[in-house]
Amino acid sequence: MLKNDLFLRALKGEALDRPPVWMMRQAGRYLPEYIALRNKYDFFTRVQTPELAAEITVQPIDIVGTDAAILFSDILVVPQAMGLEVQLVESKGPWLPDPIHTDADFNRIRVPDVNETLGYVMDAIKLTNQMLDNRVPLIGFAGAPFTIMCYMVQGKGSKTFDEAKAFCFQHPVLAHRLLQMITDTTILYLKEQVKAGVHSVQIFDSWAGLLSPADYETFALQYSRQIVNAVKDLTPTILFAKGAWFALDEMAATGAHGLGIDWCLKPDVARAMAGNNVTLQGNFDPARLLSPIPEIERLTKAMIDGFGTTRYIANLGHGITPNVPVDHAKAFVNAVKNYRKD
Ligand code: CP3
Repeated sequence: MLKNDLFLRALKGEALDRPPVWMMRQAGRYLPEYIALRNKYDFFTRVQTPELAAEITVQPIDIVGTDAAILFSDILVVPQAMGLEVQLVESKGPWLPDPIHTDADFNRIRVPDVNETLGYVMDAIKLTNQMLDNRVPLIGFAGAPFTIMCYMVQGKGSKTFDEAKAFCFQHPVLAHRLLQMITDTTILYLKEQVKAGVHSVQIFDSWAGLLSPADYETFALQYSRQIVNAVKDLTPTILFAKGAWFALDEMAATGAHGLGIDWCLKPDVARAMAGNNVTLQGNFDPARLLSPIPEIERLTKAMIDGFGTTRYIANLGHGITPNVPVDHAKAFVNAVKNYRKD
């Protein structure tokens, strides 16, 4: 039995006095304890070694006291498992030397056996749950097919993902074939994560906001919807499509238990669009964690006043950045924990 199940109760829609809180990218470079391991082991060694992944996952629980843990891993392990080489280049980010551009490139990728290729993730989940000892729930995750496709085609990070979008619009048959392969892999992967012991899953569609509403449905949501459909009866499922606020109503209609919101949307507008049967999660601007602590406390309270304490999970609107002082991250978490409506 979990000692703190606030996060899961928020996803069920139970009435709560204060929302649960966690932060996207909470296991990361703002923590000196993470940097210490980063200096010793390269990124994919940290991801692929269950002892290291578990230790990094538990760090923010011990240090900042969030109400949920999120497994330390990366969305790009999926293209790796499908057969593409993925590197993480220091200060440059993800690098895929041989991206997918043509029909012939599909010979290099497949829908893999996920236990064979990603078994280390399942081992990390089991070990993390042992280390957590039921203190808080563990969130598993995967990238949404559109965001994964962006990296598989563009081969690197980008502000516009212009080559990936051009691939969708110039070679739609190939794009849909790739998106479906990613979708099939992700469904197998998330089902195995649930079997290994995660208490919930989040689907990250970080680049969804680059698409128009019509293209978001065609190239992104129809695939995320398949994933939500396949896992929502197995585990509470959160869909975070950054920038795609225009589709909150369609996202709510997928039956996802939770929807992530970035900081560009007002709480009452988000609620009106999403309806009352889904839990909203977000939406503190990560850059606001650089404000003085009293300001962080004031803004956090205002955010909760806006969303309410029921069917709401306090979080950032995107990942925490490396330049945030640990004290400021703690101030955010404690402001949620100390919330009183007045
Ligand atoms: O949230 C967590 O604490 C769990 C771990 C997690 C990581 N990446 C660890 C990581 C999660 C959930 C992710 C998801 C992820 N990875 C996304 C979706 C969420 C988002 O932020 O939009 C994306 C787009 C990626 C791809 C990726 N991985 C990028 C663009 C980068 C480089 C940028 C950066 O922050 O340096 C990574 C590397 C990465 N993944 C790091 C971490 C902690 C930094 C690596 C390092 O320590 O140098």
